[in-house]
Amino acid sequence: MKTVIVSASLLLSCTFAFAAAPGGKALYQDNCASCHGAKGQGGNGPRLVGDASQWPARLFQRAVLSGIDDHGRPLKAAMPHWQNASLKSDHGAAPTQVEIKAIQRYLKQIK
Ligand code: HEC
Repeated sequence: MKTVIVSASLLLSCTFAFAAAPGGKALYQDNCASCHGAKGQGGNGPRLVGDASQWPARLFQRAVLSGIDDHGRPLKAAMPHWQNASLKSDHGAAPTQVEIKAIQRYLKQIK
């Protein structure tokens, strides 16, 4: 009986942990949309949907973290180097690979 209760509460806490972690949409809207547009269509920053959204994950991640584009050129200063910054929900920590992948996945889904 004890095992059942323990595993049930473990399951519950895992569910809550997943529910609390923001998905790609929230991460994008909270951190990127102000410059790249609510639908990734561009604004102060370039359009991401149908462009960088299609880059290999490795290059997308490098652009986000280090500000280097798919041709190896540095992105201009307006684009934050996220390795030295923090997504709103991360409270000071740099974005993780999982978060950046979630953002790219979201951009691939929206049109
Ligand atoms: C303060 C404005 C701003 C914010 C916030 C911002 N960006 Fe950018 N981003 C830019 C600008 C401006 C450029 C283009 C810089 C250049 O042309 O050199 C850019 C370029 C990029 C590129 C390269 C696009 C290309 O085609 O070369 C990617 C990928 C990108 N941003 C992703 C993101 C993601 C993901 C976020 C959120 C985590 C984000 N950006 C947040 C301003 C911003």
